[in-house]
Amino acid sequence: MLFYIVLVVQILLALCHGSLAEKMMRPKFKDIKVWSEEKMVSHKIAYDNSDPHLNFSMEVHQELQDVDIHFDVRITNKQDPYYTSSLNTTLNICRILNFANKSPVGRFVHGFIREFGNIVESCPIAKGSYYINKFWWPEDPTTAILPDLEFEIHFNAQHLDASKKRTLIMNDQIDGVFTVQDVNNLKPGIFAMLPKRR
Ligand SMILES: *[C@@H]1O[C@H](CO)[C@@H](O)[C@H](O)[C@H]1NC(C)=O
Ligand SMILES: *[C@@H]1O[C@H](CO)[C@@H](O)[C@H](O)[C@H]1NC(C)=O
Repeated sequence: MLFYIVLVVQILLALCHGSLAEKMMRPKFKDIKVWSEEKMVSHKIAYDNSDPHLNFSMEVHQELQDVDIHFDVRITNKQDPYYTSSLNTTLNICRILNFANKSPVGRFVHGFIREFGNIVESCPIAKGSYYINKFWWPEDPTTAILPDLEFEIHFNAQHLDASKKRTLIMNDQIDGVFTVQDVNNLKPGIFAMLPKRR
């Protein structure tokens, strides 16, 4: 689920900024706090800034009927108090999965993420272990004159049972900064992935 958010953030940044130099705007995660309702689900997020990747793992202890996720993303420029972008959205995971399984774009994104591990495929979400290892999004070089941007991502997930009763099952806070870095380990852009590598 986090990966949809990461992709959305990446797409927002791609829309805001063109591509010029051989520099890369990358996030540095400062603080990741995760909380799970352990009776129903456990989850972990690990990241590595130097060889950039994210690992996500989730253990589902009880079948989940239906799940809503909510995220607040705020991006601010410390040098410019008037520059703030924010995104505040609620999505239904089962509807996303339904879309992912039915539309070509959804299948493409889902297929891309699926290569990194064992992800949730459909609802209800069965008991079991789900994970994504060594995930990173496709990158394209960016311009050198961008200011540092701080980001705060607030993510939570609510379970909806058969009678639509809501239970908070995950609540995460992720803070960091996007900075322009000279990188020598650029991940290929999304179009470079066609046709398939490997
Ligand atoms: C992520 O998972 C991979 C594969 O299991 C592992 O090699 C790597 O060290 C993990 N990274 C972090 C930051 O835990
Ligand atoms: C996001 O939306 C919710 C519900 O509409 C609201 O309660 C919350 O304050 C909003 N958060 C931000 C950062 O605007």
